[in-house]
Amino acid sequence: MDTMDKDIERVLFSEEDIRQIVQRMGAQISEDYAGEDKDLVLIAVLRGAVVFMGDLMRAIDVPLAIDFMAVSSYGDKAKSSGIVRIIKDLDVDIKDRDVLIVEDILDSGLTLKYLMKNLSARHPASIEVATFLWKDIEGKQAAINPKYVGTHCPDAFVVGYGLDFAEKYRNLPYVGVLKPEVYS
Ligand code: IMP
Ligand code: MG
Repeated sequence: MDTMDKDIERVLFSEEDIRQIVQRMGAQISEDYAGEDKDLVLIAVLRGAVVFMGDLMRAIDVPLAIDFMAVSSYGDKAKSSGIVRIIKDLDVDIKDRDVLIVEDILDSGLTLKYLMKNLSARHPASIEVATFLWKDIEGKQAAINPKYVGTHCPDAFVVGYGLDFAEKYRNLPYVGVLKPEVYS
């Protein structure tokens, strides 16, 4: 049988690791967004963040709405271009609401920098970022500073838990490092 596991060099975060990380993030977000004056809207960036979104929203116990945006910045290449194009915009109005952008992985931060600028222009009450992974490598400064970070990620190309290589591996239930021979 052809399995995806054979393309994985090593597992970085297991299903159990992920469960614990998401529970912790959900608890923190629930605490921060508790109260009558809050109007939380989770905005996930398609497609990578959908798996994390599904888990995170169920780990949050305050009322919330969800919506999705699709942007393109990467294509199938492994480097951020900094050029971001909105492919699918929001359906909900975020004016005076508390926006939390949900991302799978933060690398250069260029994608999120652009998104935050774009969404800020719609006058939300607040805007923050929750990223599951952060590739914060020494000497490398991300373009934005995420408020909620699941865990730090080494400078390798990772797949699974929503993250893809050429649209594959998103359905792996764990996060792993892809064998270099798969993408070279
Ligand atoms: P940034 O603009 O450099 O922060 O790029 C962030 C986006 O690049 C993420 O939303 C992912 O879609 C993609 N990305 C960055 N690193 C990886 C990786 O290791 N595996 C899969 N996708 C990645
Ligand atoms: Mg992405």
